[in-house]
Amino acid sequence: MNTPPELNRLDVRSVFGIDSPLKVTAFRERSEHVPDIDPDYRFNREVTLALLAGFEHNRRVMLQGLHGTGKSTHIEQVAARLNWPCVRINLDGHLSRLDLVGRDAVVLRDGQQVTEFQPGIVPWALQRPVALIFDEYDAGRPEIMFVIQRLLERDGQFTLLDQNQVIKPHPQFRLFATSNTVGLGNLNGLYHGAQQLNQAQMDRWNIVATLNQLPPEQEMAIVRARVPSMRDEARQAQLQAMVQFANLTRQGFKVGDLSTLMSPRSLISWAENLDIFGDLQLALYLSFINKGDESERPVLGEYFQRCFDQELGTP
Ligand SMILES: Nc1ncnc2c1ncn2[C@@H]1O[C@H](COP(=O)(O)OP(=O)(O)OP(=O)(O)O)[C@@H](O)[C@H]1O
Ligand SMILES: [Mg+2]
Repeated sequence: MNTPPELNRLDVRSVFGIDSPLKVTAFRERSEHVPDIDPDYRFNREVTLALLAGFEHNRRVMLQGLHGTGKSTHIEQVAARLNWPCVRINLDGHLSRLDLVGRDAVVLRDGQQVTEFQPGIVPWALQRPVALIFDEYDAGRPEIMFVIQRLLERDGQFTLLDQNQVIKPHPQFRLFATSNTVGLGNLNGLYHGAQQLNQAQMDRWNIVATLNQLPPEQEMAIVRARVPSMRDEARQAQLQAMVQFANLTRQGFKVGDLSTLMSPRSLISWAENLDIFGDLQLALYLSFINKGDESERPVLGEYFQRCFDQELGTP
C-alpha cells in the first residue's frame, strides 16, 4: 500500500471505443480490487468522459439516472480498463455510521484481550489508491450523509474525532456516487426510500452526469452485447421492436399511463428469457409484465400490438 503504483498512459479512443483524442492515466498492474473486464461492455461517450475526468483530475462524479440504465456497471467497467481498484458500497438502510468511520473492537494480542480501533471503510479507502463508489446515494440516511459530507470538502481530509487523527487522502483515492434521483426525493413514486439530499451536499459534487434513455441503436447494441443469440442478422427486426416496446413503456410512464417502465436491465432479461423459453410473449410476462399492476395490461397490450403487429395473449 505504501509503494506508489506504477502508472501508464492509455488512449481513450482505442480502450473505450468512443470518439475522443484524450489520453488518461491507468495503473500498470491489476490488483485485488480491480473489477473484472466485461469485454462486451458498451461505453456511453458523455458518461465515460465524465468518469474519466473523475479519475484523471480527481473530480467527484455523481451518475444519476433511472434504474437499470448501467450506472454502477459503467463506473466499474471504466475502473476495470484503468486497472483502478474499486470498492462499491450500497448506502442502504443496513449501513451504519460506524461501518463507515470505524469502531473499537476487542482483539487478541499476545494472548491478551485488548480494545483496538478498527477503521471503517472510509479511512481504509482514503489511504489507498482506490475508487470508492457510493451506490444508491439517495438512499443514505442523514447520519451517513454527514460522514460523507466531510469527505467532499475541498481537501478531502478526514478527521477521526475519537482517535485524534487526521487522514489525508492518497493521491489516487477517488470518489464516485450513483443515484436514481437528483436529490429531490421520491418525486415520481418510483424510488421508495430515496431521501431528499441536502443541497449543500449536492453542491459539493463537481460533476453530475446523467444516464437515462439511450438512443435505440445504442440500446440494441447493449442487448446484442449481453445476449449473443440476439446478434443474428435475422433477429434484428425483432430486437428493434423489443426496444421500441421498451421505449413506449417509458413514454407511457412519463405521461402517467403506466406506473412502471421497462429498464434496460428488464429489456436484457426479456431477451435472455426469450432465449430460454423461445416464446416472446411468455418471456415478456416473466421479465416485465408480471412485475406491474394488472389494470395496466390493456395499455401494454396496445403497445405490443403496435410493435409486433400481434395480439398480446394471457400467459
Ligand atoms: N453499456 C452497457 N453495455 C453492456 N451492458 C450494460 C450496459 N449498460 C447496462 N448494462 C447491463 O445492464 C444491467 C444493469 O446495469 P447496472 O446495474 O449498472 O444499472 P444501474 O443503473 O446501476 O441500476 P440501478 O439504478 O438499479 O442500480 C447490467 O446487467 C449491465 O451489465
Ligand atoms: Mg446500480
